[in-house]
Amino acid sequence: MNAKKTAAEKAVEYIKDGMTVGLGTGSTAYWAIRRIGERVQEGLNIRAIATSRASEELAVELGIAMMSSSEAVELDLTIDGADEVDRSWSLIKGGGGALLREKIVASISKQLIIIVDESKVKERLGGFALPVEVIPFGYEITMRQLSATGCTPVLRMLEGKPYWTDNGNYIVDCDYGDILHPSQLAIRINAIPGVVDNGLFVGMAGQVIVGYGDGTVKQLE
Ligand code: 5RP
Repeated sequence: MNAKKTAAEKAVEYIKDGMTVGLGTGSTAYWAIRRIGERVQEGLNIRAIATSRASEELAVELGIAMMSSSEAVELDLTIDGADEVDRSWSLIKGGGGALLREKIVASISKQLIIIVDESKVKERLGGFALPVEVIPFGYEITMRQLSATGCTPVLRMLEGKPYWTDNGNYIVDCDYGDILHPSQLAIRINAIPGVVDNGLFVGMAGQVIVGYGDGTVKQLE
């Protein structure tokens, strides 16, 4: 059974006619967008905003009506994946490089539903290196300052070149080991000049739907 797909399809049940919807990014969000596309073909009337160019392209291909960021004041619901989620529903996001748009979209959503397979649920965040979006100018300086917050920073590369986000920035993956105080760490990181945002989402998720290998789905308590 595809646990990502079952979690995604469960979350899409929360979408009602007339809603404005944020579309996440990644291989789990992919299944949600696919299912939303099917429901749109069946007559569901929604407007959506995507958190990445890839998700936007998929949504347009599937006939989902899109809205621009200037039209989006408040969203009824956003469905997105995560790289890690703990028991307080704090998240690490950004494995797919879309953390900035994801955080902007989540911040205007009345409800953020996170969809993950069981492997993403952790007692403590930090097994997955924390993605941090930084501006290219002076990135080595920014990386040294990130290092001083207690991590090993690595510039994300793609085909031998720095990975570019949809916003024209770089991603630095920061291995902190166990993250004991996610909200404090998020504030410290974002205070560094050159950091645009980090992948810690604290107090944002309203619901976490976990898919299991046996085909079941459960809300994370
Ligand atoms: C992209 C993200 C994704 O939600 C996260 O990386 C999870 O991806 P996947 O569903 O492919 O495991 O934050 O920036």
